[in-house]
Amino acid sequence: MASPKSNGSEAQAGPWKLVMEDGGPIKPPVTVKYTKLFINGEFVDSVSGKTFETFDPRTEEVITSVSEATSEDVDLAVKAARAAFDHGPWPRMSGQVRGRILHKYADLLLQHSDEIAALETWDSGKPLDMVKMLDVPGSSNIMHYYAGYADKIHGLTLKMSGQYQGYTLHEPIGVCGQIIPWNYPLLMFFSKISPALACGCTVVIKSAEQTPLTALYCAHLSREVGIPPGVLNVLSGFGETTSASISKHMDIDKISLTGSTEVGRLVMEAAARSNLKDVTLELGGKSPLIIMDDFDIDEAVDIAHSAAYINMGQICMAGSRIFVQENVYDEFVKKIIKRVHKQVVGDPFKQGVQHGPQIEKVQFEKILKYIQYGKDDGAKLLIGGNSLGEKGFYIEPTIFVDVEDNMRIAQEEIFGPVMSILKFKTIEEVIERGNKTIYGLVAGVLTHNINTTNRIARSLRAGRIWINCYYAGSFNCPLGGYKMSGIGRELGLAGLESYLQVKCVITPLQESPWL
Ligand code: NAI
Ligand code: MG
Repeated sequence: MASPKSNGSEAQAGPWKLVMEDGGPIKPPVTVKYTKLFINGEFVDSVSGKTFETFDPRTEEVITSVSEATSEDVDLAVKAARAAFDHGPWPRMSGQVRGRILHKYADLLLQHSDEIAALETWDSGKPLDMVKMLDVPGSSNIMHYYAGYADKIHGLTLKMSGQYQGYTLHEPIGVCGQIIPWNYPLLMFFSKISPALACGCTVVIKSAEQTPLTALYCAHLSREVGIPPGVLNVLSGFGETTSASISKHMDIDKISLTGSTEVGRLVMEAAARSNLKDVTLELGGKSPLIIMDDFDIDEAVDIAHSAAYINMGQICMAGSRIFVQENVYDEFVKKIIKRVHKQVVGDPFKQGVQHGPQIEKVQFEKILKYIQYGKDDGAKLLIGGNSLGEKGFYIEPTIFVDVEDNMRIAQEEIFGPVMSILKFKTIEEVIERGNKTIYGLVAGVLTHNINTTNRIARSLRAGRIWINCYYAGSFNCPLGGYKMSGIGRELGLAGLESYLQVKCVITPLQESPWL
């Protein structure tokens, strides 16, 4: 059992020991079958023959090598997607038939749940229990949801002034480039491809370089259900090369990215400088959770705990600024420490483990750097703050109190298990402070006062507001950012519409005695 490596912390050492099997990291119950690029319905080597390694975040060991797409492979994938869109059956078949194929895809995913979940945990370090409970069924549900829309896409008939009539056609936008991150590899894959495919678009999707494996497995499943060649192309590769080629490609009609705000800007710039392709960006956050003094404190503790620590804090929607009203602040702090102590940290393959390693060394070091910033800027490190274990990217759940708005840990996205607790007095004050970042993705408020909820929900500049809950939601709730958290909306009907073009057709109308 490993003990914490010190990070120069003055906080009490946490109680966490890595929960592991006696023999060390559990051997993943799966083998890797698909490592090549998936272009035009075939698994192929990259043109350059290049490969890169993907790692197990528990051990820092190589899992396997996968083919690396360069701009030549992007060209081939785009050609296949273009041909499938311009001449292939996918956009031309009835919505009913397309929907049936996609429903089958969603079902097949569940039939392979164990294998997919094991690959996801191996590649990303996400707790297997959670992947089985949320990521796999959630991905299937998203696909079913959009498959159901495939035969319900239609426009309007417009009665015009004068002797004309108009109608709108809602047409698939075309070839879509999609770039996804490593924090929810499978869910992100299905959040992106499902609405695009349901609309009749064709897709070139690039997985994150840290987590290529489940996307390739699901590429294989797409063949099994009869998605025609060229409709879904799946590439592994890096941001600066593969995704940059996608962003500036002249034959891609729309690009959708989930990732950092910094990369969002690059993608938008590339889109602007190439063919002005349509852009959807789902970017970072620094979301506030506001706890008013009338709310049950134990429930508030549970909600704040999951807001900050789910997925080891690696989530764009993380409630990373916890605002607590001053007269319940001390009690909240006492109770959240107890709650965080109960967090089970260890091998994500082990049943009952809630908190695995961070994704990779770069992120691991970034988080430890922010913990140091917190201390340097004068916040009080209450618990945690250290890495755990001799290998792997484990970090203790960490709490800072006495955090002030201008500190780096209150302004910048950490993307790790670091909770910042801030004290406030009045509603006016917390609204102003809640809005005081460059981000505006989501926010939460806990209170039973209806006037307070109404006021806060309308005053916070964020794309989703949770009242008396956090993370509740499903595929039919749109998600997207205000301010620098992004552009456009995903999920729900808004997510579908972002893959459609509206064409208006106008024709003269011969005189008629009828209306
Ligand atoms: P990133 O934004 O670099 O990576 C996300 C995706 O964008 C990956 O597929 C990557 O290959 C691609 N990408 C990277 N550079 C690109 C470029 N020049 N052009 C086009 N695509 C590019 O995020 P990274 O480096 O993995 O993490 C850095 C920080 O970003 C995290 O600490 C976190 O704060 C934030 N982030 C936010 C996410 C979200 O869900 N909104 C997801 C992942 C990271
Ligand atoms: Mg990996």
